Amino acid sequence: MNSKEARDLSGSTLLVGVCGGIAAYKCAGIVSTLRQAGADVHVIMTEAATKFVTPLTFQALSNNDVHTDMFAAGSTWDIAHIGLVRKSDLMLVLNATANTIAKLAHGIADDLLTTCVLATRKPVIVAPAMNTAMLEAAPTQANIATLQARGLEFVEPGAGFLACGEVGSGRLASDDDIVAAVRRVLARTQQLRSEHVLITAGPTREFADPARFLTNPSTGRMGFALASEAAARGARVTLVTGPTELRNPANVEVIRVTSAREMHAAVLEHLPGTTLFIGSAAVADFRPETVVAQKVKKEDAWPEIRLARNPDIIAEVSQHRPQGCLVIGFAAESERVEQNALDKLQRKNLDAIVANPIGGEGSAYGGDDSEATLLWPGGRRVLGRRAKTDVAAAVLDLASTLRESAR
Ligand SMILES: Cc1cc2nc3c(=O)[nH]c(=O)nc-3n(C[C@H](O)[C@H](O)[C@H](O)COP(=O)(O)O)c2cc1C
Repeated sequence: MNSKEARDLSGSTLLVGVCGGIAAYKCAGIVSTLRQAGADVHVIMTEAATKFVTPLTFQALSNNDVHTDMFAAGSTWDIAHIGLVRKSDLMLVLNATANTIAKLAHGIADDLLTTCVLATRKPVIVAPAMNTAMLEAAPTQANIATLQARGLEFVEPGAGFLACGEVGSGRLASDDDIVAAVRRVLARTQQLRSEHVLITAGPTREFADPARFLTNPSTGRMGFALASEAAARGARVTLVTGPTELRNPANVEVIRVTSAREMHAAVLEHLPGTTLFIGSAAVADFRPETVVAQKVKKEDAWPEIRLARNPDIIAEVSQHRPQGCLVIGFAAESERVEQNALDKLQRKNLDAIVANPIGGEGSAYGGDDSEATLLWPGGRRVLGRRAKTDVAAAVLDLASTLRESAR
């Protein structure tokens, strides 16, 4: 640990799970390092873990009570798992066994550790340790992939001599790698803490009569992923979304609108104070000029629909942005994807744009993943086909970089 890192975890509260594997003894050193770095560390041990190391060891090293029993009566009326997850900034599952990883992947909550992981909305880091065959077994690999896809961070096990006498992968990652992961993830939870992020998401509906509207296939997933990720990085987040089935992300103010004009009004209302605007909504460019008051009957001839242009929300935000506000747009294009996105970047004076194709395998519309390229003046990053959650993380990384270079 260098002097700069010495007590850099001061003020953070970590919930550390210890599982029942041979590497449980190594977790004592990690808990000690985290505490020396200033973190307030609370340890939960599985029942199996207590067969390898006593709770007393972790109690002495963390200087806090060690939790082993979900049903233990506390000194105050506080449901243990809720109290623990509420006060922690992140959870770290150490020497994660094949068994605990399997339980986490399937939402099983039959002890305090697995219940806390299920109950937390904070980042979770998992450092597995097991014999090579257990690690390589198809169920373990599938369970790890499931958890990674849900956003849990894994600290890859290393290779070397294992307690079972074999040499192979499955060794608990080094203390340095695990503590570095804690630092990295904690830093990320603070990365946008001084930003007020305003995000638009989803499609809009442009009614022609009370029963019919023009819209597009946007699901809102991209904007919701951006909002969740920005909130997880400590930003104050306002999400203005068109109609979608998606549930409100945690710690995000959500404003639900229907039409482009409603979205426009909500954005302008919330723009003052915004430091980062991300326009990911698929706003309808046109609306029926007049809305027929009563449902047009099938047997009647449909009156001719004349289309009127909707407000260009992102162009207006870009032009009237609060001082220092970064503006990032999305361009869903069916042809000349990058060129059209670059034109939009320049025409609307954006700080960056995400170019997405529509149609085909990696289409921006529908699905949990999409093909994306980030473009900004003087820069380009091809993300390829990625989960929308990964695209969201990359967009916010770029926003942080642009913010740094603007300073
Ligand atoms: C001596 C010994 C060492 C073990 N080491 C490991 C290990 O390193 N990794 C693992 O996944 N399981 C290991 N196990 C098996 C676990 O203890 C067992 O799957 C247990 O149910 C895990 O419980 P937990 O996940 O609740 O901690 C070991 C068992 C014994 C007896």
